[in-house]
Amino acid sequence: MDYGEYLKLSGLLQLQQVQSKPEHPDELLFIIVHQASELWFKVLLHEMDQLSEAMDANDAPRAVSSITRINVLVTIVSQQLSALDTLPPQRFAQFRGYLGTSSGSQSDQFRAIEARSGLRDAHFLQVIREHGDPPALVQKALDAPLMQDQFLTMVDRAGLTLEQVYTEHEHGPLAQLAEGLLAYEQQFAQWRFLHVQLVERIIGPGTGGTGGTLGAKYLNRTLQNRFFPALWAVRAKFYGAAG
Ligand code: HEM
Repeated sequence: MDYGEYLKLSGLLQLQQVQSKPEHPDELLFIIVHQASELWFKVLLHEMDQLSEAMDANDAPRAVSSITRINVLVTIVSQQLSALDTLPPQRFAQFRGYLGTSSGSQSDQFRAIEARSGLRDAHFLQVIREHGDPPALVQKALDAPLMQDQFLTMVDRAGLTLEQVYTEHEHGPLAQLAEGLLAYEQQFAQWRFLHVQLVERIIGPGTGGTGGTLGAKYLNRTLQNRFFPALWAVRAKFYGAAG
């Protein structure tokens, strides 16, 4: 077994098939940023399984390790978007037509990550059912327990309220896990923000997407999504405001 064989490099490096004719010099970068993001999504989903198992086993320290890794992975995916900031609008326009109707909004892994994280609102469900039954990967994620519920079950098992986790066990593993989950929500929203900014930078704020949405207008709406409403709400309690 050598490096190339272990990593299946001969196959992997043939998967970047530029569609433009004549070949546009920027399309390879466009493909690789998407493919690399999908690879990171794969490991992210795998790590989400680990997190879920740790929470089921009531193992808060292991869950903290897992969410810490997840947060690094999301940061990496966000940072990759900056490579496409170097793609000027007129150059993207030269090969955009070759993408056909393909769009990131058809990423099953991205939808599965959102579903695993806890999105269940009507708009999200409508987006994923737009083209019929959700793909198996997405359906599996929809059937999985909500991350927030799993965490709140751990809090419950410890005989605590969420508020007490912060006030009485400020440095305990449950508090670390709560903050790790909140950081995940923040990191994810940062991906959304960087992506919508990239979209506005490259195709402008008013241009529709290849996936048939209103483009940046649609994406801006998704910035409102929340995976862990309870973790946001509890903060208000420390200021005497209604949760
Ligand atoms: C030139 C760069 C990019 C442009 C112009 C762009 C454009 C868009 C647009 C307009 C949408 C809205 C759906 C549609 O109608 O097509 C969208 C959605 C999406 N894109 Fe991109 N995108 C870019 C890069 C990326 C990259 C590198 C990824 C990484 C995987 C990505 C992943 C996604 C995902 C996951 C969605 C669905 C988001 C949601 O529904 O909340 N995009 N993109």
